[in-house]
Amino acid sequence: KKCNIQKNDLEGKVITISAGSTIEPIDPVRYLTNHSSGKMGFELAKVAANRGAIVNLVSGPTKLTPPQNVNFVDIKTTTDMKDTMLNLLPKSDVVIMAAAVSDYRVKEISNKKIKKDGESLQLTLVQNPDILKELGHKKGKGQIIIGFAAETNNLENYAKGKLKSKNADFIVANDVSRKDIGFGTDENEVIIFGQNDFKQKISKASKEIIAEKIFDVLSMKGE
Ligand code: CTP
Ligand code: CA
Repeated sequence: KKCNIQKNDLEGKVITISAGSTIEPIDPVRYLTNHSSGKMGFELAKVAANRGAIVNLVSGPTKLTPPQNVNFVDIKTTTDMKDTMLNLLPKSDVVIMAAAVSDYRVKEISNKKIKKDGESLQLTLVQNPDILKELGHKKGKGQIIIGFAAETNNLENYAKGKLKSKNADFIVANDVSRKDIGFGTDENEVIIFGQNDFKQKISKASKEIIAEKIFDVLSMKGE
C-alpha cells in the first residue's frame, strides 16, 4: 500500500542504521561471512530518509545501491563497524543494528595466501565484540537502540533474552528457518519485542512495508 500523503514524522531525527554482513579476512584472498543481503537495513534507511530523518547507513559489502539522501559509510570487518557505530552513537537519536554481524573472526590473519598442504586445515576463531550490547550499555537518556534477532527456534525466548542482555529498547525478531522470508528475500515477517512486555507481530510483507511499520511503532511509542 502506498500513501500519497508523505509522512514527515521523523523530521529532525538522526537515525543510524547498520546493514549487510561484516566480513572477516582469513588471508589476502579469503574471508568468512554470512547470508545477509542487506535489504532490510537498506529499506529502513530509505524509509527513514523519506520520512524526514537524517540517516547514516553503515554497511558491509552488499550488491545493493545505497539510497540517495543518506550518509553512506561502507565498512568491511566487525571492528570497522563497531568503531563507526560507536562514533555515531552520540549524534544519533535512534540506532538500529540490522546488520548480520560475524560472531567470530580469525585469530591470526595470514598476510600470505594459505597454501593447501594437508588433508585438513584448522582456523582458530575468536569472538567479536557485541556492537548492539555496547551501544545498549552506552546509550544516553532519550536515545533508542533497536536490534534484530535471527532465530531458527525458540524465537520469543531468545529475542526477549537479547532485549535484556543487550539493554535494547526493541528487538525485531525474525524466523530465519523459513525459506519464504528473511535472508536474501524481498519479504519478511517479524515480531517486535520491547520493554514492559511490549509485543507486536508484523505479518508477512515486503521489507519496505516492514520498515515503515517498524518506524510506525517508534512514532506510536512517542520515540
Ligand atoms: N550483533 C552485534 N554484534 C555482534 C553480534 C550481533 O551488534 N557481534 C547484533 C545484531 O546486529 C543484531 C543483534 O545483535 O541486531 C542480534 O544478533 P543475533 O546474531 O541474532 O544474536 P547474537 O547475540 O549474535 O547471538 P546468536 O547469534 O548466538 O543467536
Ligand atoms: Ca550472531
